[in-house]
Amino acid sequence: MTTSEPRLPNVRTPVPGPKSREIFEQEQRLIAPGRQRISSLAGVAFDHGEGATLTDADGNTYVDFFAGVAVASLGHAHPQFTSALERQARRLIVGTFASAGRAEALRLLAEAAPGRLKRAHLYSGGAEAVEAALRLARSVTKKHEVVSFWGGFHGKTGGVLGLIGDESKQGYGPLSAGRYQVPYADCYRCPFKMKYPQCGLFCVDFARAQIKNSSAGAIAAILVEPMQGTAGNVVPPDDWLPAVKSLAKELDALLIADEMITGFARTGKWWGVEHSGVEPDVMTVGKGMGSGFPVSGVMLSDELGKAEPFGKPSASSSSYGGNPLAAVAVAETIKAINAEKLVENSRKVGALLLGRLLDLKEKYEFVGDVRGRGLFIGMDLVRDEKTGELLSRKVTEVIFKEALKRGLLAMSYFPRVRINPPLVITAAQAEAGAAILDEVFAWVRDNVDWRAA
Ligand SMILES: Cc1ncc(COP(=O)(O)O)c(C=O)c1O
Repeated sequence: MTTSEPRLPNVRTPVPGPKSREIFEQEQRLIAPGRQRISSLAGVAFDHGEGATLTDADGNTYVDFFAGVAVASLGHAHPQFTSALERQARRLIVGTFASAGRAEALRLLAEAAPGRLKRAHLYSGGAEAVEAALRLARSVTKKHEVVSFWGGFHGKTGGVLGLIGDESKQGYGPLSAGRYQVPYADCYRCPFKMKYPQCGLFCVDFARAQIKNSSAGAIAAILVEPMQGTAGNVVPPDDWLPAVKSLAKELDALLIADEMITGFARTGKWWGVEHSGVEPDVMTVGKGMGSGFPVSGVMLSDELGKAEPFGKPSASSSSYGGNPLAAVAVAETIKAINAEKLVENSRKVGALLLGRLLDLKEKYEFVGDVRGRGLFIGMDLVRDEKTGELLSRKVTEVIFKEALKRGLLAMSYFPRVRINPPLVITAAQAEAGAAILDEVFAWVRDNVDWRAA
């Protein structure tokens, strides 16, 4: 399947094609409602991938600006990654005993880690890792309350559900007690209608007052995404996270940076926190960490790791976390990020792509804001540039489908578009994807009443 030249989009049938449709309908008869929106909207069944492209069951090839929501860091079917997993699968899959693979994964993680966060526990999913970080914060501080941010997302399990900063948690109450949300520095949509830097980071002053007035005085942790993924790839000003770290210190609480999306070279640096120079007390990692293999982790210092009950035997382990296959996935991902200079590629190709998307902002009235760091780019599609009112979902779903028809898979079905391709994407592939967006936006401008609801 490997070709010498990276692939470019090539769509030869209607999308979804007949084979995709057949597979999708087979699934649809049995799959429970609630599957990922992008999968329902696309209706496409992918057959294989290569680097930053995906090919469907009908042989159509798409540039992937999605990467399984920033999961496929090394892209699809990375040769060394897949053969290492294959080799390990033939030897040993199960168990939480020491293994050469896990020792290597932990060493590589420690080498990449910021500051003192040289120790790690491995888990299988993101929410599980965030839950573990919260148990650690309780063990360390002997307090139980947690602060998170509007627009934040940390998973859907019981302990973190109440930390989601939007309405998607509605209907699941009662939520855990002692959870407080404060506004994020989402400056394009500032809830205080202020402008940075004249605002003097008023949102942090507001958070301080909000916590003081609403908490029971037992804040164990502030949980924060260094840049918000689910909210729309939102990038706060660089001096905001240091101010949040100071607030955590004032509260004698841990700062937990949820690097699930922003870690592992996604933002053009190894970690999202590096952009602001903040060393968090704890980091949660996952997604791109295993390039598609379900593995996540909590990264912490020697000192915090001793806290009990977290540090007691079996108190922070799990059935699958860090099993031999997961460990190989982590080790091979880190090795490839280093060997293939993917931090640099993320920065370079990300800057190029950001430039192309900023050109689209000049060209189309409904492109309201474009922002990004590395291969983590967000774009707000708006009805009204002055008020920032977002385009309707009806319009953005059309944008998603028109892009797919032309060979681009991107999270453009929400008006806060998220672009997070595999880190291996080439300049030519990024240009091809941006050109498709340009073509689709021109088509929407000429054919769709995008101002209407
Ligand atoms: C920042 C962040 N934290 C945690 C999670 C939860 O990860 P998972 O879906 O693997 O439970 C996500 C998932 O999107 C995320 O974006």
